[in-house]
Amino acid sequence: MNRGSVFMIDQNRLPFEFRIAECRNHLETCRAIRDMTVRGAGAIGAAAGFAMAQVFLEADRTGDKYGIDNGRRLIENTRPTARDLFYAVEQVYRAGQESVRHALDKAQQIATDNIREAEGIGRHGSTLIRDNMKILTHCNAGWLGFVDWGSALAPVYFSKRNGKEVYVFVDETRPRGQGARLTAWELSHEGIPHAIIPDNAAAYFMSRGEIDLVIVGADRVAANGDVANKIGTLGKALAAREYKIPFYVAAPLSTFDPACASGLDIPIEYRDPDEVLYQTGLKEGGGLERILVCNPGSSALNPAFDVTPAPLISGIITGQGIIPATPEAVMKYLEPSSA
Ligand code: MRU
Repeated sequence: MNRGSVFMIDQNRLPFEFRIAECRNHLETCRAIRDMTVRGAGAIGAAAGFAMAQVFLEADRTGDKYGIDNGRRLIENTRPTARDLFYAVEQVYRAGQESVRHALDKAQQIATDNIREAEGIGRHGSTLIRDNMKILTHCNAGWLGFVDWGSALAPVYFSKRNGKEVYVFVDETRPRGQGARLTAWELSHEGIPHAIIPDNAAAYFMSRGEIDLVIVGADRVAANGDVANKIGTLGKALAAREYKIPFYVAAPLSTFDPACASGLDIPIEYRDPDEVLYQTGLKEGGGLERILVCNPGSSALNPAFDVTPAPLISGIITGQGIIPATPEAVMKYLEPSSA
């Protein structure tokens, strides 16, 4: 954040174009969160924290104190599932009761903590990775989805940077294509061999013994260890159990929500059906083009997340270590002394 503006990589343009988007006020930051210019649990959290700080800055300039609660509501209405968004807004809102400076500092601290936690996830998660392992991941839980490092991909990056060879199967992640577009782009930049696979191909590769380990991120972890993550995650977890493949979730403290007793309490975002019906890609000869890819006139349903029940999860990789997906371990992790 600089002079009241929040700057972010425009993820809607990747991998075709690298552009930094500037959000000059909290309304523009809200729009960027909603339309997924910025996306991924950790990055959404950081952006939401800065949006809340922008609200305090703007209220300070205009003297409109009522705008603060309205601004908070607006940010919280952008995307309902990612716990990091609500965590960041709450923290910055509280800090802002002291002063605008406190709000700005808190937003910056949340972003910095995100990097530190993700680095811890990388370190702990890499103990699960042996040389030459073949790893499946879903969606994008790498540096783009966080402030840096990522969650699910942090152990992969950490392993690679420490000399292990790894191969990554990248689910394309319909309808928005976060795997095919963003994870593949990140892995290319990290020099990590990988292949994009259709969303419905993972069970086939598992059945052939071609996948050793699954690591995914999380948008919200409930108190009983159930995990909401990008739609399609549940299917991978069920297939992994059938083929006895370890299935790990990686998430920082800010993604855990003690107020959700189980996955049933996690609000699931439904996005615009047009995201299913249309796709945007690079035209031959350059430029982005949006085309209809489904039967004209059919409707579509677009749930953005699903919930994986705790018994399907081998463990949760946190910034402090790998914990079982059980209520006891989750609640212990949330105790202030362990955070
Ligand atoms: O809808 P998105 O792209 O914001 O999805 C959220 C996610 O990034 C994934 O579900 C991810 O695995 C969570 S951790 C970045």
